[in-house]
Amino acid sequence: MIVTTKQLFQHAYGRYAVGAYNINNLEQTVGLFRGNLGKSKSNADPVDAAKSAPFILQISRGARSYTDKRFLEAMIRTADQVFPEVIFAVHLDHGTEEACYDCIESGFYSSVMIDASHEKLPKNIEITRRVVERAHAKGIVVEAELGQLGGVEEDVTGSVCLTDPAEAAEFVEKSGCDSLAVAIGTSHGAYKFAGKQGLHFDVLEEIQKILPKGFPLVMHGSSSVPKEWVERINNAGGKMKSASGVPEEQYLPAAKLGVCKVNIDTDGRLVWCAIHRESFRDDPANFDLRPPGTLFMAAYADYIVHKNTMLGSAGQLEAVRKALKE
Ligand code: 13P
Repeated sequence: MIVTTKQLFQHAYGRYAVGAYNINNLEQTVGLFRGNLGKSKSNADPVDAAKSAPFILQISRGARSYTDKRFLEAMIRTADQVFPEVIFAVHLDHGTEEACYDCIESGFYSSVMIDASHEKLPKNIEITRRVVERAHAKGIVVEAELGQLGGVEEDVTGSVCLTDPAEAAEFVEKSGCDSLAVAIGTSHGAYKFAGKQGLHFDVLEEIQKILPKGFPLVMHGSSSVPKEWVERINNAGGKMKSASGVPEEQYLPAAKLGVCKVNIDTDGRLVWCAIHRESFRDDPANFDLRPPGTLFMAAYADYIVHKNTMLGSAGQLEAVRKALKE
């Protein structure tokens, strides 16, 4: 069942964060849906309520143009039929104004992100406001961004500029956005921190205090870049040096301060890369795509269960279903 991110945030706020996972292809989609129902090896496995979680499926502009956006839509609609127990939002990640309007008109997305964070405050407000008006007219909710993350996202390379809490209050009031992505020290990609930096909880706390009560915050660049997966990649011929991410133990403290959505893209790519490298290393005569694909879907599903456990969303699916009926 497709719902809006706003509906998911109402249940999560202050208690846990909902995982927002980027997808690009069929194997990722199947692994993601299975993982959020606690299934691993097969679509036919029983649903595991203790592991089941609501989730956000994110589609970037890059994913939409990788093959054709219509493939993604068809795949997700099919996954919704194959896994009828799921509850999720379909969200455009880092949209331009044009991409937002395309998704709003499509009748498929329940949530869009307008990313005008590279603009000065008044222009960011103006653009976001326009998208909010078009989206709300169709019952679609809008995530906006204020402040700049590091790393590369789509075609934009960011240099870190933390969100100013006072500006956040003005931005939320004037733009009418439904959730706000804030820059609190993370960056996109596999190389987030050199040394011991981490999240700026002091800034997050100030932002939560100054915004209207219960206003949902979003954390981009939240992959944890697990050492285990980086090592597996490097042991199978990869060359990823000094990769590091957000410590998973920081997800729940961030959730308690109003972070309702935690964006994970890089970690999924790491799992994909490790499994495929190992599979071809261990069976060099193989040239069939299905053996590594089968292993990847199961490994990705398990990884999603692990991530949801760290986010606190694992085991919340039935409570969300009940809350949606009230
Ligand atoms: P990661 O690169 O840390 O996975 O972040 C993804 C993201 O924020 C997508 O918007």
